[in-house]
Amino acid sequence: MMFIRAYVFFLGVLATLFLGWAALTFIPGIQIKEVKPLPGLKPYTEQELRGRAIYIREGCVYCHSQQTRPDGFGVDQRRGWGRPSVPGDYVYDRPHLLGTMRTGPDLFNIGARQPSEDWHLIHLYNPRATSPGSIMPPYPWLFEEAEEAPEEFYRMQGKRVVPVPEQFRPEGKVVIATQEALDLVAYLLSLNHTYPVKAEKR
Ligand code: HEC
Repeated sequence: MMFIRAYVFFLGVLATLFLGWAALTFIPGIQIKEVKPLPGLKPYTEQELRGRAIYIREGCVYCHSQQTRPDGFGVDQRRGWGRPSVPGDYVYDRPHLLGTMRTGPDLFNIGARQPSEDWHLIHLYNPRATSPGSIMPPYPWLFEEAEEAPEEFYRMQGKRVVPVPEQFRPEGKVVIATQEALDLVAYLLSLNHTYPVKAEKR
């Protein structure tokens, strides 16, 4: 009698583990194996990939999601964050940056919503300069401060002066974007999934 019960218990454990594996690993694996990039989706350029690595390094994903949900799953559609995302939108995203927190807005289509490089640079240098009262942290280490001089002077040296309003930068200084800031903004501008999607199977 004792022996049979142990045997049944063991089978139960095995079945539970198997079901968990099948439902959470095996079946989803089959479902996404064949996902192809959508026709409008472009692979990231090298610069965008460098920017993506900085997005990961700076932890932007802890406050920003990159997934737009359909009506009935929240207010994304009413906020104008773009059509619901589908698996084919993420083929080039490894690791994916879907995010789970929305302390800030969803960035799945930020490149379409805010296409200005200047705006992004100023916002990263000091979010309060573009968005009064913003609680997003500033990222000043992505910028250099240099003596004030006509923009021409720095442009000739291949440097990108950021048009930060006077009251948001140190007196007598200009703000210059580092390559890292430019790469990060190139990545943000590439987040534009506004191409049309035919109704998919899934
Ligand atoms: C502590 C949370 C937090 C972190 C970390 C954070 N953000 Fe934000 N972000 C916000 C909030 C809140 C807003 C809305 C206010 C604003 O525009 O500044 C925002 C707004 C934005 C916007 C404008 C979105 C829109 O729809 O106008 C962009 C772009 C952005 N963040 C990019 C980034 C990037 C890139 C990083 C990483 C370098 C980052 N954020 C890190 C909280 C955060």
